[in-house]
Amino acid sequence: MKYYNIKNTDLKVSNAALGCMRIESKSVEEVEALVAAALDAGINFFDHADIYGGGKSEELFGEVLKRNPGYREKMILQTKCAIVPGKRYDFSKEYIMSCVNGSLKRLQTDYIDILLLHRPDALCDPAEVAETFDELYKSGKVKYFGVSNHTGMQIELLKKYVKQPLIINQLQLSVIHSVLIDSGLNMNMVEPYAADKDGATLDYCRLNDILIQPWSSLQASWADGTFIDNPKYPKTNEVLASLAEKYHTNKTAVSLAWLLRHPAGFQPIIGTTSPFHLKQALEAENFELTRQEWYDLYLAEGKPLP
Ligand SMILES: NC(=O)c1ccc[n+]([C@@H]2O[C@H](COP(=O)([O-])OP(=O)(O)OC[C@H]3O[C@@H](n4cnc5c(N)ncnc54)[C@H](OP(=O)(O)O)[C@@H]3O)[C@@H](O)[C@H]2O)c1
Repeated sequence: MKYYNIKNTDLKVSNAALGCMRIESKSVEEVEALVAAALDAGINFFDHADIYGGGKSEELFGEVLKRNPGYREKMILQTKCAIVPGKRYDFSKEYIMSCVNGSLKRLQTDYIDILLLHRPDALCDPAEVAETFDELYKSGKVKYFGVSNHTGMQIELLKKYVKQPLIINQLQLSVIHSVLIDSGLNMNMVEPYAADKDGATLDYCRLNDILIQPWSSLQASWADGTFIDNPKYPKTNEVLASLAEKYHTNKTAVSLAWLLRHPAGFQPIIGTTSPFHLKQALEAENFELTRQEWYDLYLAEGKPLP
């Protein structure tokens, strides 16, 4: 497993992280086996959110930490806050504090390494967020802060007030869902793909040393599920299969290698609940796609290129 330091921190993180959104339906023993497999493979970064499984995902993970007292110090624990389930977003001090206190309790830990604002709140008062982050930082409850699903300009607005560095932006990105990349490639064209939907967030994050964590790296969409072996994505699966054969690996690993090949240095959040799928995915570290292969995969499903 490769490791690197997140810029502006003392955090040395694994090249890929384990996402814990889907563990809610598993038993404690199954989650324990998954976490052990991740640690054995060298993963030291675990991603949560207060709302996953209505809190159940953090609760199960906390139970695993309780059963394995040595685990916590080996881990970087990240969680997200400020989605009010089924309703809206809430960046008020009162709500963020209640999210963090809930996560700490469910995870059975004294501190969260990184707290992310889960999705932008239209009613965000950045000065209030700054005050909240200060209090969380000073109390030792949260060491670092970041965002998820935020544009560059939304981050700029927060940065005008927040004292701590915003070190992460977690964003949906996969070979199928590549909005972050599409508009840059099609700039100034009339195509819908040229529309700048995110304010060049990928470039903004690179310019500002913000680590991008791709989420749903193996998903086509919520409705379609994973694109791996999905008949709705035949061309992508054809290219994936041929590259998997060339590199003596599997389609999941090739899909993640496509992300790892990008020079921005993404940290994919792998959302599997299966130790076997995790092992398959981590084969992505063993090879590097050529430039042509990267583009072949990007273009497989018919995206335009001027
Ligand atoms: N910030 C945000 O707004 C946001 C939103 C969504 C998710 N996230 C984070 O990102 C993480 C990853 O997202 P995700 O769960 O959607 O990601 P994902 O890794 O793209 O997808 C995971 C799904 O793919 C399946 N899968 C994995 N390997 C497979 C294989 N070899 N063959 C067939 N199916 C396979 C998994 O099933 P198995 O369990 O059976 O392997 C699971 O259902 C989440 O856990 C969460 O931490 C963040």
